[in-house]
Amino acid sequence: NNPPWPAYRGYHEYSFAHATMGVRLPTILGKAIDDTSRTLNEQSSEEQIVDLVQCLERMDTLMADLSGNSKLRPIVDDGEGDVALWNKEIAKYFQGKDFMNAPWLFAEAYKYRRLHECFSISKYWKDYDVFYRQKCDTFSRSSDAVFELSTRFAEPFRQTSNLSETEKLEAERLMFLELTQVCLWGNSTDLSLLINMSEEQIKSLQSTGGDHLAATEKNILGNDLSKLWESVKVLREKTGGRVDFVLDNAGFELYCDCVYADFLIQSGLAKQIRFHGKRYPWFVSDVTKKDWEWLLNTMVYGHLFPKVSEAERESLRRLGARWKQYERDGIWVYEQHPFWCTGYTFWELHSEAPDLFLHLSRSDLVFFKGDLNHRKLTYDCAAPASTPFDIAIGPMASAPGAPEICSLRTIKSDVVVGLGPDGDALAERLDKDEPGWKISGKYAIVLLSEGRPG
Ligand code: F6P
Ligand code: MG
Repeated sequence: NNPPWPAYRGYHEYSFAHATMGVRLPTILGKAIDDTSRTLNEQSSEEQIVDLVQCLERMDTLMADLSGNSKLRPIVDDGEGDVALWNKEIAKYFQGKDFMNAPWLFAEAYKYRRLHECFSISKYWKDYDVFYRQKCDTFSRSSDAVFELSTRFAEPFRQTSNLSETEKLEAERLMFLELTQVCLWGNSTDLSLLINMSEEQIKSLQSTGGDHLAATEKNILGNDLSKLWESVKVLREKTGGRVDFVLDNAGFELYCDCVYADFLIQSGLAKQIRFHGKRYPWFVSDVTKKDWEWLLNTMVYGHLFPKVSEAERESLRRLGARWKQYERDGIWVYEQHPFWCTGYTFWELHSEAPDLFLHLSRSDLVFFKGDLNHRKLTYDCAAPASTPFDIAIGPMASAPGAPEICSLRTIKSDVVVGLGPDGDALAERLDKDEPGWKISGKYAIVLLSEGRPG
């Protein structure tokens, strides 16, 4: 059950797959090696040092495999819940394939799994995160946008009581649309692309002001925002009102996701939010459990922003404290299914992880954040830009029990669908006028699939 279009592969020179497999991944791995060496130099225990040196040796081997375009070998059994899924997929589809001729999506994910293996089979460094420093550091350099949001939302969202019902609903609609965009554009600060960002660059990417958002809405090329509101506004009447976020990046993006999720709870639109993160370091910036805990705890207890006022610091503390309370009360739940860290696309989610599919089918709305999740939803293949979203995501729309799905993604790679009947012409025009429009993160999509009752 595959789509009729070819999947992107590393040897496709016209695609971002080529630059990623040939240049970006070795660069990212090189930085990971530097980070590990830095940690090594900070150690004092011989046992731990020797153990970490072995991790570094395995990273060197991975670098040689990647640069030399070796064949993909099975994953070593390190006791993780995803080993069987990985090795089944390799055996079934990718025997004899190498980094460049395997589908890009698979080969790229495989690299992150191999990187994890460098540490998972060690004694002391099983959970070491080579990207952790970078993730924390970027959040600490996002202070303008962080405090713009915290000072606005520390006070729980409340409607002014002298408004009519219609006016209240309108105020709620506007707030919803604004925060959906905050959540969407939060995805543009992805560390795997913006390796050495200056503070100015971060600032311009994270501007969350109203005027700015009105201007950026025209960059949402496939725009189901109004349809999304129509379905969210009726959630309140539903007994469950459960909304899920399949998370993408840690730090600032996660913070924006939480601001949005907080609004859904405060407004009474949703009753429970389930966040889905990764079990180990993934695609540089993706959220792990440690990143999740770090964000909430640093908001409440951290000393990350020495230059801001006491009032600003207090707003961040209050926001963080409220979010931690949601977690204690089970209103927010953090989960990490092994399937999210595999090379499978979501066309295979219902067959390879039926428990997860069933779990998601009980949600009223599932947000998929970011570029990688979008690539997985759409099989990362050369579908025409006019392809309707629900066709492009195959079984995630058509299998019985498919939940309502919304993809919030700034466009950072080749696959673009859901641009409407004139979408092919639009894509062609952009290809001509703005080469690189598919990887700049300037454009975005907000696409909705209604799903199918079970
Ligand atoms: O390496 C390619 C990629 O998967 C792109 O899809 C994107 O450039 C980046 O990595 C991840 O982006 P995101 O964090 O939005 O999924
Ligand atoms: Mg990511």
